[in-house]
Amino acid sequence: MSVDLAVVPVAGRGTRLLPLTKSQPKEMLAVGAKPVTQYVAEELEQSGINRMVFVTGPGKQAIENHFDPDTELITALREYGQEDLLESLDFERMDVDYIYTRQGRQLGLGHAILCARPVVGEQSFVVALGDSIIGVHAQSQIVKDLIQLFDSEKADGVIAFETVPREEVVRYGIADVRTNHEDWFELADLIEKPSVAESPSRLAVAARYVFRASIFDYLSKTDAGKGNEIQLTDAISAMIRDGGRVLGIPLATGERRFDIGNFPSYFRAFFEFAIQDPQYGQMFSKFARERLHEMDTHE
Ligand code: G1P
Repeated sequence: MSVDLAVVPVAGRGTRLLPLTKSQPKEMLAVGAKPVTQYVAEELEQSGINRMVFVTGPGKQAIENHFDPDTELITALREYGQEDLLESLDFERMDVDYIYTRQGRQLGLGHAILCARPVVGEQSFVVALGDSIIGVHAQSQIVKDLIQLFDSEKADGVIAFETVPREEVVRYGIADVRTNHEDWFELADLIEKPSVAESPSRLAVAARYVFRASIFDYLSKTDAGKGNEIQLTDAISAMIRDGGRVLGIPLATGERRFDIGNFPSYFRAFFEFAIQDPQYGQMFSKFARERLHEMDTHE
């Protein structure tokens, strides 16, 4: 595949998850048995990405520590006869180069991606938002599909979308569709967090993108937009206005995006991953069923 590098922005403060995120990054919160960021890295690695540029900020060192191989821990597990736990550290051996760069000032998602420019240079790259998991246990093909379409259509950008309820368009970048093809569409525009009345569709950006390096030129010319932040969406919109070809792929039916940016969707994600956990899922599902039944009968 033509793209083997991803930029993973993880600098956001996670204010919608306070107090949980006061001293730990939201990207390190547990979803079932793993932290969010490990699912993101595993998904990317399975999609052929072997260089990941994390754009970090204050208080995010736990992410770097998580991906460092910990030989002392491995030796200790062996010494104490806990070899059965070694498997849980297999992710440390993924064939991936981790690169960390900082977003010195919190000026928005678009600005965070621009901070990766000196590392990315002129190559095309994936953007994977570090607080979103695609598919239960991150078993998703979406990044592969984005790259394939990006190559075959010689696009300037390809973005993953999911259909959201109308009242939720206010939380996402929303597609204005120009033309529909069999399993993808071309964008006429992309609008960041429109009002329900003004939203051109219910197709919301689902945290995964592929771009040519030319997106950096647009980002560097983008002024602060919604929320007084430099928005990636506005740079994409400018690229389209200039004749750039930006395409969208809907997530496969049944493939869900888990947004670890607010409590309702974090709780849903944890629950879903816990009931589908290979080791503890059955036990936990039984507990959940019994507990809900008990609550129903006491109402
Ligand atoms: C960001 C993007 C938005 C996108 C969303 C989820 O918003 O700006 O376009 O739909 O991620 O992928 P945020 O959640 O950072 O407010």
